[in-house]
Amino acid sequence: MLKLAVLISGGGSNLKALIEATAHPGFPAKIVCVGADTDAAGLAYATDAGIQSFVVRPADHPNRAAWGTALAAAIREHDVDLVVSAGLMRILPAGFVSEFSPGLINTHPALLPLFPGAHAVRDALAAGATETGVTVHIIDEGVDTGPVLRQATVAVRAGETEAELHERIKQQERPLLVDTVRAIADGSLDLAAAASTAASDATSTAATG
Ligand code: GAR
Repeated sequence: MLKLAVLISGGGSNLKALIEATAHPGFPAKIVCVGADTDAAGLAYATDAGIQSFVVRPADHPNRAAWGTALAAAIREHDVDLVVSAGLMRILPAGFVSEFSPGLINTHPALLPLFPGAHAVRDALAAGATETGVTVHIIDEGVDTGPVLRQATVAVRAGETEAELHERIKQQERPLLVDTVRAIADGSLDLAAAASTAASDATSTAATG
C-alpha cells in the first residue's frame, strides 16, 4: 500500500477525488497526511475523512528554503512514499525537491511545456489557444519542467471565462490524477524510470544540439 502526502493551497477538489478513490477497497494507495501552506478550504476534506493534516506557512519561516525544510519535516513524520502536489500554489525549494523527487508529483492545468506557472488557464486564454489541458508530472528543480507522466487535452470554447475553462479542465484533471497515482501504486508506472528516461533524453538533445 503506497502511502501518500497530498499538498494543497485552495479548494481541494483534486484532494477530494483522491480521498474518494483511496477509500475504495483494493485501491493500492492511501492518504496518510494532507499539508497546506495556508488555511486552505480543502483541509476540511481531510478532517471529514479523518486524515491528519498540517499547515506550514511561509510567513513563519525566514526564507523559502527554511519553509521547505519545515514542510519536509512535517511530511517525514508520516512515513510517506509519494508526495502529491494537488493545487499547492508554491514553488517547492530545491532541498525539498531533492529529498522527495522522483516520488514527488504535481498536477498542472495546462499541456506542459505550454503555460507553466501560477496562471496557466489565464495564460492559455490570453494566448488564444484552441486547446489546453492538464499534465501530471514529476517535480524537478524547475517550475513545471519535470518529466511528464500523463496528459489530457481540453478544447477551449469560444468566449468561455477562465473559471469556466478551469472547471472543465479539472473535470479531466481529477480522474487523470487518480489514475496516475493508481499506476504508480500498482507498479505499472515507474517514477525512477520516468525520471531517468527524461534525463537521458535531455542529455542526448544537448549532445545533438
Ligand atoms: C488545479 O487545477 C491544479 O492543477 C492547479 O490548481 C488547481 C487546484 O484545484 N495548480 C496549479 O495551477 C499549480 N501551478 P483544487 O484545489 O480544486 O484541487
